[in-house]
Amino acid sequence: MSTQTIAVIAGDGIGKEVVPAAIPCIDAALARYGTTVEWNHLPWGSDLYLQTGAMMPEDGIQVLGEHDAIFLGAVGLPEIPDVATLWGLLIPIRREFQQYINLRPVRALPGISSPVRGGDDIDLLLVRENNEGEYSEIGGRVFRGLPEEAAIQENVFTRKGVSRAARYAATLATTRRGLVTSATKSNGIIHTMPFWDEVVEEVLADYPGVQLEKILIDALAAKLILRPGAFDVIVASNLFGDILSDLAGAIAGSIGVAPSANLNPEGEFPSLFEPVHGSAPDIAGQGIANPIGQIWTGAMMLEHLGHTDAAADLTRAFESALRDGVRTRDLGGTASTTEMSDAVLQRLVAADREPTPTH
Ligand code: NAI
Ligand code: MG
Repeated sequence: MSTQTIAVIAGDGIGKEVVPAAIPCIDAALARYGTTVEWNHLPWGSDLYLQTGAMMPEDGIQVLGEHDAIFLGAVGLPEIPDVATLWGLLIPIRREFQQYINLRPVRALPGISSPVRGGDDIDLLLVRENNEGEYSEIGGRVFRGLPEEAAIQENVFTRKGVSRAARYAATLATTRRGLVTSATKSNGIIHTMPFWDEVVEEVLADYPGVQLEKILIDALAAKLILRPGAFDVIVASNLFGDILSDLAGAIAGSIGVAPSANLNPEGEFPSLFEPVHGSAPDIAGQGIANPIGQIWTGAMMLEHLGHTDAAADLTRAFESALRDGVRTRDLGGTASTTEMSDAVLQRLVAADREPTPTH
């Protein structure tokens, strides 16, 4: 196999701290199996925007398309409208590369206590539809500045888009506890959400071993807090999935540990791997950001690229470091970003080729 190439966009804020902390850990996990990947660092993001007015070069998508995967930190600067950073980089990448699944695993990690009763039982996969839904460009504003001013934003739900998200969720559920929870709002949103329900039901009919429950998004948010352990796989539209993933991540202990993958499941285009958190301007530059979300994201990327054993070792290594009490401030500890990642790295190199012990 020729060496796989990874495009790296550290981006802005703490992205510039957690990405360099995570890469040596990923390299060390691969080295245990005599493998390497090639990292291609791309200085894209808000700095480039301030210089040129664009988040990435004009041929950015083409450049990224030549890689096997994309490893991203975060983008966003307080001085720049978030619409420019998001629609100038992340959303075009997700759409051009047909990354129609946003997969966000949420589970309690050793040594991290949940702020919510029963939160230590959380173990779910959130499948967020990532290409359409509420995040649409269709709409506009009229009568700007007048009392009659109005804004219209159209949602787009397609049979293809909904069914492939539902199918992905159902397939995952067959490898787990066999439950798919579909987030809906078909009481209030009378066109798109009943359609969502119908298509999800049709797809799930192909999976007799998988149970489907439909829950209205408001009740689902409450149930996630009250019974976090009651979920297996949640499938949700772009907006509902976005909100639920921060909620579920917070229940698990900190947004700083939450990973995500923007997947093109067919492998026709590169997939993009990024932590759930943003650029955290409030703590950027202080060296205190938690690198676990970025490292766990790296484990998802290794898994996607076929390095299953290295991915498992990397996961065990950060779990072992957390279990031994190495923690950053967001988790109530005192470790810096590099102290945290060094603890992970040490567990990968010290154990030679033996799997890192779990206890
Ligand atoms: P955020 O996730 O950057 O920060 C929320 C809170 O969590 C802050 O108090 C922050 O300090 C803390 N936090 C986040 N990650 C952490 C980590 N690894 N370790 C310790 N603490 C951590 O979300 P916020 O403040 O809403 O957004 C900041 C900027 O990031 C905005 O410009 C936003 O648009 C952008 N953003 C970018 C994303 C991306 O690139 N995918 C995703 C979310 C937000
Ligand atoms: Mg979000």
